[in-house]
Amino acid sequence: MIGKLNHVAIAVPDLSAAAAQYRDVFGAKVSDPVDLPDHGVTTVFVSLPNTKIELLHPLGEDSPIAGFLQKNTAGGIHHVCYEVVDIGLAADKLAASGMRVLGDGKPRIGAHGKPVLFLHPKDAQGTLVELEQV
Ligand code: CO
Repeated sequence: MIGKLNHVAIAVPDLSAAAAQYRDVFGAKVSDPVDLPDHGVTTVFVSLPNTKIELLHPLGEDSPIAGFLQKNTAGGIHHVCYEVVDIGLAADKLAASGMRVLGDGKPRIGAHGKPVLFLHPKDAQGTLVELEQV
């Protein structure tokens, strides 16, 4: 069901320092920061030959990653995102196997304008998993 690794998201306490490290030390192609007010994050995309790294920083008062950064003050891997062809079908299969989809259980439009859902980390090897329809 899952296809390519779309991105690995890393929550960072200092977005410009993180972007500078990926650009200047790791020598990667790094985007300008993009504010996503609807999602409560500012993102920088790092393009790698086979996938992306998404650097995430909280935006606004009730950012969904604020709590994560309070617990992980140096930053850390926040989620991994796998591609699926049909997210509705994926959601049905996951529900049938007892996995919990976060929120109301329905796919919503994610940070890249495509339908996504998130699985409860306790149901997925302790890792927050995002599925994105491509
Ligand atoms: Co993501």
